[in-house]
Amino acid sequence: MPAVTIMPSGKTIEATEGSRLLDILMNSGETIQHKCDGKAECGSCHIFVQEGRKSVSRIQRPEHEKLDSIIGVGSKSRLACQVMLGNENISVEILGFSSGF
Ligand code: FES
Repeated sequence: MPAVTIMPSGKTIEATEGSRLLDILMNSGETIQHKCDGKAECGSCHIFVQEGRKSVSRIQRPEHEKLDSIIGVGSKSRLACQVMLGNENISVEILGFSSGF
């Protein structure tokens, strides 16, 4: 059962393999925007996956195209609505700004 550590709060949540990262973050009580309700269209759920990137679902074309269009993207960037957990622990950073529109 993978655990998700959320920065900057430091909260750790036990999760289920295959679950969607956005749902985990929302259910944890963290504030994260999701203006398009998970369709990879708004970019507002942009987060950094700091650890465990190789264990989560791979970036698909819609997410890749959206990430290409937003500012502040780096090699650790993902859209939380497009990330499905693998079987390893991950650490994510919720950004203190909305990088989508
Ligand atoms: S909720 Fe809009 S891109 Fe994730």
